[in-house]
Amino acid sequence: MSMRKIITTACLIVSLASGTAGAGGDPAAGQIKASSCAFCHGPDGNSSDPAIPKLAGQFEKYILQQSLLFHSGKRKDAAMQGVTAVINSDQDLADIAAHFASQVLISEKAPNSVTAQQGKIIYEGMLKCYLCHGPNGEGNPGSSETDAAPRLAGQHKTYLIKTLKEFRSAQRRSKNGFMMNTIMPMVSDAEIEALCEYLSRIDLTAPENPTDPQ
Ligand code: HEC
Ligand code: HEC
Repeated sequence: MSMRKIITTACLIVSLASGTAGAGGDPAAGQIKASSCAFCHGPDGNSSDPAIPKLAGQFEKYILQQSLLFHSGKRKDAAMQGVTAVINSDQDLADIAAHFASQVLISEKAPNSVTAQQGKIIYEGMLKCYLCHGPNGEGNPGSSETDAAPRLAGQHKTYLIKTLKEFRSAQRRSKNGFMMNTIMPMVSDAEIEALCEYLSRIDLTAPENPTDPQ
C-alpha cells in the first residue's frame, strides 16, 4: 500500500468514526429540533406565509450561515433575532439546517406571465444573476466560501422582493453578499418585480424546464 493510500484510508476511517462531524448536521436530530422553527417556516420548510422564506431544499451551509448572521445581529429581523437568542448552538443549528436542506421545496407553479418572461430575460442578461445562482435559480452549494450562492427557485415572491430591496439599500449586508450590494443599486423596482415573479414560479422538480415560454 502506498503512503498516499494509507493516509486516505486513515482519513476515511476517522471521518466515518466521527459520524457527522465535519460533514455537517444530522437531519434526523434536526427534524425534532426544527419544531422551534416550524411555526413560521413549516415543519418541512415550506412556509405558508409569503413574507417568511422557504427553507426546504436550501443549502445546509447557507441556512446555518444566515442563522448565525441573525444571531450576531449582522442580519436584522426581529423574529429571527428573537429565535436565535434562544436557539444558537452550532450543533443545533447545523442539525436543523441539515433537516430543512433534505426537504423538497414546493413551488407555487404560477403561470408563466409576461412579467415572468421579462424577469427571465433580466436574469439571463447583463446583470448575470445566473452565473452565481445557476441557469434555473438552483443555486450553488459552493466548493469554497466564495462561489456559494443560495437557491432562489420556487421561493416566495413577497420575500424575494423584500430581501432584494434590502440588498439594494444595504440594509442587508454580509461578507458573502457584497456582490448583491454592488449589483442591486442598478436594478429598478419594476425589474425586481419581474425577476421575483420569474424566480418564484420555477419548479426544479418538474421534468421539463418550466421556465421556457410556452
Ligand atoms: C416567529 C417566526 C420565525 C421563527 C420561529 C423562525 N423564523 Fe426564520 N425567519 C423568519 C422571518 C420573518 C424571516 C425573514 C427575515 C428577513 O426578511 O430577512 C426568516 C428567515 C430565516 C432564514 C433566512 C433564509 C434565507 O433565505 O435567507 C433562515 C436561514 C431562518 N429563518 C432559519 C430559521 C431557523 C433555523 C429557525 C428555528 C431555529 C427559525 N428560522 C425560526 C421567521 C421565523
Ligand atoms: C457574483 C455572484 C452573484 C451574482 C452575480 C448575483 N448574486 Fe444573488 N447572491 C449571491 C450570494 C453569495 C448571496 C448570499 C448573500 C448572503 O450571504 O447574504 C446572494 C443572495 C441572493 C438572494 C437572497 C436569497 C435568500 O434566500 O435570501 C437573492 C434573492 C438573490 N441573490 C438574487 C439575485 C439576482 C436577482 C441577481 C441578478 C440581478 C443576483 N442575485 C446576482 C451571489 C450573487
